[in-house]
Amino acid sequence: MEDLDALRSDLLSAVARADDAQALEDVRVAALGRKGSVTALMKGLGAVEAGQRKIVGAQLNQFKDILASAIEARREDLAATALDARLVDERVDVTLPVRPQAEGYIHPISQTIDEVTALFGEMGFSVAEGPDIEDDWHNFTALNIPPEHPARQEHDTFYLPGTKDGARMVLRTHTSTVQIRTMMTTKPPLSIIVPGRTYRCDSDATHSPMFHQVEGLVVDEGSHFGHLKGCLIDFCRAFFGVDDLPVRFRPSYFPFTEPSAEMDIGCTREGGTLRIGGDDWLEILGSGMVNPKVLENCGIDDSRYQGFAFGIGIERLAMLKYGIADLRTFFESDLRWLRHYGFAALDVPTMTAGL
Ligand code: PHE
Repeated sequence: MEDLDALRSDLLSAVARADDAQALEDVRVAALGRKGSVTALMKGLGAVEAGQRKIVGAQLNQFKDILASAIEARREDLAATALDARLVDERVDVTLPVRPQAEGYIHPISQTIDEVTALFGEMGFSVAEGPDIEDDWHNFTALNIPPEHPARQEHDTFYLPGTKDGARMVLRTHTSTVQIRTMMTTKPPLSIIVPGRTYRCDSDATHSPMFHQVEGLVVDEGSHFGHLKGCLIDFCRAFFGVDDLPVRFRPSYFPFTEPSAEMDIGCTREGGTLRIGGDDWLEILGSGMVNPKVLENCGIDDSRYQGFAFGIGIERLAMLKYGIADLRTFFESDLRWLRHYGFAALDVPTMTAGL
């Protein structure tokens, strides 16, 4: 069977030369397919003389097996080579830093809100929210500021044009609106904080027409003024990371709290900077025991429940902590300023990782 020997060496070298899966498949079909050369020889066995048929048949079968296993071995080789090439091609260096250069920065206001939220969260407060556009009742009346009350002028309110259900809508002048919204829908005991935007018609180095507050509200059966002071002093010490932080409470007046107090942090203002410590004071919040009239307005039994509330100026906190002297720079959208005072996007403040 010289023909068979020649065919065998042709086919085996064709297998060895096939350099991808498709070329190999073409060789297989040309030899072992329905119209393949080896298949044709098998079909021709019938014509072989009877004495030879058995020998030739055995040779042919053996060759088919050899060819099939040569093809299989080559297929595995090609697959391994292809995988190696892909691994080299798609190589990733997992030891590289996530990003060599951050493209964007977190604004100090967002950072401060995240820090405040992490701290009060640790103290057991949950976060509540309310709308920026409010009705008169939530912003004033329910907070014991009746229509004729002079505090309505104090607030320098932005009134919206037109009326809704006969009342003028306002841009909320404080986050205290969410005290009302929460007490109307949640039964005490409750403790919430409300970070958000607030609006007053005012603009200079320490006032911006849009600014941020974080409101706090605790209502339960046992709260007293000592809890209010302890809670706020603990918060400020942790927030500024200063154990002997200079603080003072000053008596004050808000229609929705009684008694009321404002809290100042000792600071120094020199050469356009602001630092913690020194003989000067910066007011950072208003606070007090929730006025029983407010509890009553929200349908809470004021003979059983009492609480305390506070409203902290976020910009004030950020200015003191990060030494930013002029409030207006927060809202100028100056990229150089943001690059200087901003925070890396992946540095999310948490109690475990630090603020
Ligand atoms: N809403 C007050 C303000 O904006 C702050 C405050 C909140 C005072 C809660 C007492 C209690 O000035």
